[in-house]
Amino acid sequence: MDDAQIYATIGEEGFQRLVGLFYRQVPTDDILGRMYPKDDLAGAEQRLRDFLVGRFGGPQRYIEERGHPRLRMRHAPFAIDPEARDRWMELMSHALDEAQLPADVTEFLREFFDGVATMMINRA
Ligand code: HEM
Repeated sequence: MDDAQIYATIGEEGFQRLVGLFYRQVPTDDILGRMYPKDDLAGAEQRLRDFLVGRFGGPQRYIEERGHPRLRMRHAPFAIDPEARDRWMELMSHALDEAQLPADVTEFLREFFDGVATMMINRA
């Protein structure tokens, strides 16, 4: 399984389902709920979805609209300590369980998220 195969396998719909399941958990989460923009959760959902679609072989909407991802820089305004990182991963892992994507895709994405989430830690 390589990156571009993911979009070819699950398409727009798969990423929409996954990211929707992730964001559904955010508002009531005691750590992440206050970090994400309450009045623009739909926008945040779209940004993550478009980023993933482009990253895994689909249309490059994210880069067209937002430019180079620079994810570490874009996360700098948020205090992401290991606890927040683990919580993000917990919610995403739960979303991956629920989304019922093909097993190899699920495992590939789980490892991808796990690695990137660790890179986003910017507080001890
Ligand atoms: C480690 C824990 C993480 C926390 C606490 C976190 C938190 C946030 C927050 C609060 C936002 C702002 C929401 C918005 O308005 O767009 C955001 C944006 C974003 N996050 Fe994360 N995030 C984490 C990990 C990740 C990971 C692992 C990825 C990718 C695999 C990711 C991708 C993105 C993207 C693409 C955006 C939109 C950036 C933009 O264009 O402004 N984040 N994140």
